Amino acid sequence: MSARDGVFIAFEGGDGAGKSTQVGLLAEALRAHGREVLVTRQPGGTDLGAAIRDLVLHGDHVSPRAEALLFAADKAHHVDLVIRPALAAGQVVLTDRYTDSSVAYQGAGRDLGAAEVHDLQMWAVDALVPDLTVVVDVDPAEGRRRRGEVHDRLEAEADAFHAAIREHFLAMARGNPERYLVVDGTQPPDAVHAAVLDRVRATGALDAVDGGAP
Ligand code: TYD
Repeated sequence: MSARDGVFIAFEGGDGAGKSTQVGLLAEALRAHGREVLVTRQPGGTDLGAAIRDLVLHGDHVSPRAEALLFAADKAHHVDLVIRPALAAGQVVLTDRYTDSSVAYQGAGRDLGAAEVHDLQMWAVDALVPDLTVVVDVDPAEGRRRRGEVHDRLEAEADAFHAAIREHFLAMARGNPERYLVVDGTQPPDAVHAAVLDRVRATGALDAVDGGAP
């Protein structure tokens, strides 16, 4: 099964950027257009993913390479069980974070090497790349302000860690503008959503459902 009938859109960005709000708004808009939409998030989205999420975000110190492998394991399982079947069924899949999060957080943030982590992630997801990746961009100080007082293991890292991650997301987007959209996450949510929707039109995700023609 290699054909992909669905549309795959990932949302990326720092902690506190407002990705989840945007995923919700886009899902609503797509459903209003008659599309079937699967909303998911990483890590998580399966029982195993939820267990990995707990281990990696809420446990004690995890060694950086183990952290990278756990995030990769979550995605491997998730893509195989949830995302590929949904795409094959013609759905639009919206994911709150995907492989670029690992390239940025483990590759750049943890200093494991972006190229190595990218290769690991691509192996894990068997080279499934989104049709569009939306980077919701806010600076680390704003992200911290929005997150408030409760931090998970990664959110608790210093602003320099988050600044490196931000730079990395922006660099990935600059390197591949036809597959990325960067939106200014400090705008009101409706304005961010309008920019996202404009770009999503180009992916075909808003096209009318035509009864399953190939
Ligand atoms: P996040 O979407 O922030 O979850 P929540 O909204 O519940 O806080 O994601 C959890 C954290 O996991 C976030 O700090 C980024 C990190 N992360 C990685 O480091 N690597 C990855 O591959 C993924 C998917 C997430």
